[in-house]
Amino acid sequence: MSTQHTAKQIFRPNKDLSRNAAIKNMCEYHDLQEWAEEDYEGFWGTHAKEKLNWNQPFTKVLDESKFPFVRWFEGGKLNVSTQCIDRHLIIRKNKAAIIFEGDRGDQQIITYLQLSYNVNKFANLLKNRFNVKKGDRVVIYMPMIPESAYAMLACARIGAIHSVVFGGFSSKALRERIMDADAKIVITADGAFRKGKPYMLKPVVDEALAGTTPVDKVLVIQRNNEDIEWVEGRDYSYNEVIEQESSICEPEIMDAEDPLFLLYTSGSTGKPKGVQHNQAGYILWAQMTMEWVFDVKENDTYWCTADIGWITGHTYIVYGPLAIGATTVMFEGVPTYPDAGRAWKMIEEYKINQFYTAPTAIRVLHKVGEDEPKKYDLSSLKILGTVGEPIDPSAWMWYYETVGNSKCSIVDTYWQTETGGHIISPLPGATPIKPGCATFALPGIMAEILDDAGERVPAEEKGFMCVTRPWPAMVRGIWRDEERFIKAYFSDVKKDGKPVYFTGDGAMYDDDGYITITGRTDDVINVSGHRLGTAEIEAAIQKYDNVAEVAVVGKPDKIKGEGVFAYIVLKSDSGVADELEEFKTINDIIKQEIGNIAICENIVFVPGLPKTRSGKIMRRILRSLAKGEAIVQDISTLEDPSVVATISELIGQ
Ligand code: WTA
Repeated sequence: MSTQHTAKQIFRPNKDLSRNAAIKNMCEYHDLQEWAEEDYEGFWGTHAKEKLNWNQPFTKVLDESKFPFVRWFEGGKLNVSTQCIDRHLIIRKNKAAIIFEGDRGDQQIITYLQLSYNVNKFANLLKNRFNVKKGDRVVIYMPMIPESAYAMLACARIGAIHSVVFGGFSSKALRERIMDADAKIVITADGAFRKGKPYMLKPVVDEALAGTTPVDKVLVIQRNNEDIEWVEGRDYSYNEVIEQESSICEPEIMDAEDPLFLLYTSGSTGKPKGVQHNQAGYILWAQMTMEWVFDVKENDTYWCTADIGWITGHTYIVYGPLAIGATTVMFEGVPTYPDAGRAWKMIEEYKINQFYTAPTAIRVLHKVGEDEPKKYDLSSLKILGTVGEPIDPSAWMWYYETVGNSKCSIVDTYWQTETGGHIISPLPGATPIKPGCATFALPGIMAEILDDAGERVPAEEKGFMCVTRPWPAMVRGIWRDEERFIKAYFSDVKKDGKPVYFTGDGAMYDDDGYITITGRTDDVINVSGHRLGTAEIEAAIQKYDNVAEVAVVGKPDKIKGEGVFAYIVLKSDSGVADELEEFKTINDIIKQEIGNIAICENIVFVPGLPKTRSGKIMRRILRSLAKGEAIVQDISTLEDPSVVATISELIGQ
């Protein structure tokens, strides 16, 4: 059993870890941060020169003249796939680049040399057979198998822009992303395995492509070998055509600011946004944060449990680990199948040194097997990472004490799709850590918690988590929507009269200046570390004829962080008799429109929503009601104050 701790408790880094760490103590950290503050361009320019292999050196470090449309490392040319592969072939060609473990325990070890062959062949296939050119968009709708990484790196090699869509998204969500990105081809698999059983992806692609689309080719990787339908002339079997390609593909030499990928993510309003990351700045920061935050040594084995459909999979399964020549573990399954010990068994077997997962996974693993980690030899572990949502001090303590045996550093990494890589995180050999605290901004990141007036907030007061200067891996735009880019990130908070990047999260300093992230301040909710826009879920529910009005909020959940809670006003003439049936229908619609990740655990059918006289839905009240909190706001100005009591009663039932 874990002892009771307060959030103020401090744990100092393990001395063995500090001795050899990339950043060894807080003095080194402050020196780096001071360097960045005093000479921002010198700091970044030096790192960019040292860390990346340039085909042509850059002539200007940062151009902010068109802020927030900034340009880093102007004049520089490079190829991201060569950073991740070719430059390692001299000294580590036979080192494992990817260790793959399938859901059913099948294994593959892919060395850097094999990775090179596979990616080059894949790149040639895209270029020669499918005529994919620099700047074309390629949608990747794949399970967690090594071919997903080959596909991403193959795009990078030929200068195509990939847009990975999480395999849990529905055909409609997939179609929406294909259309917005104006993609030329889709790379998918027949399906894969989950909890010992096959599941399918190709039929979802077929559905997404019904009707007119810009896609003319679909490349299908065989994974589960289930029967699938083929569209003659459109669909190609990877396994049949790949061997015909050469394993040498000259990399396309890219400008530092050419786009590398798009990744769609939810915002507080409207459709998902195509977050755009560019070449040099992104790969530089992926590499630097890998070195600083995970402190991966040459012989280490690193495992991040994310899915490549999310930014964590992009930066910390594929690009970051490969950029530093590390061994990255890729896992198809779930950490609790076939039993509660799966993750711990993998750590023991592969002698994992850095383990990186989400608070939801930690809470699930805790729940299903509190003492399970003790049955395995986890002594190889040095660093335990967490990402995606705030981690509660009790989950943190279990991770620290039971999984890490009180000797590992916990890195609570705060970042977002838009930041490209970590921005606030402990440094494992340097930062004294506190449960539930993301601690401090990484060197080079000018993060500050500001209030409405753009002033730094005092300790223990909530404010807006902002970054006051552009950094190399900052989102470069929302695909083909400049206005939305400015509105989404640079219109809420100003410092000294100038707009700054606002993350959408609230945060707080403690008396020692440690940062705790308190969660989103907008209409984005975070379910098991998955970012969902309430507006998107509402739009899906609205598709149901019987629905007159709907409002969706997040409800705190012990395991998932938040759950989806919907208030629905049915049409008066809908003649609904069975609420359970309606519940099922509504969730089926959500599954079709978005996917399983967005289904509602709670739906209350209400006679009306609390609105102001001007018709604005009072979401704050709905959030409080969902939490079961007493309503302290003044409700007398509502159009119909009585709905609050009615809703409260209905929830109570
Ligand atoms: C949340 C995932 C608290 C936050 C990398 C952010 C966190 C959103 C943390 C981004 C953390 C991520 N502590 N909250 N360590 N990490 N978040 O774009 O609300 O999928 O804005 O990127 O997750 O989610 P996204």
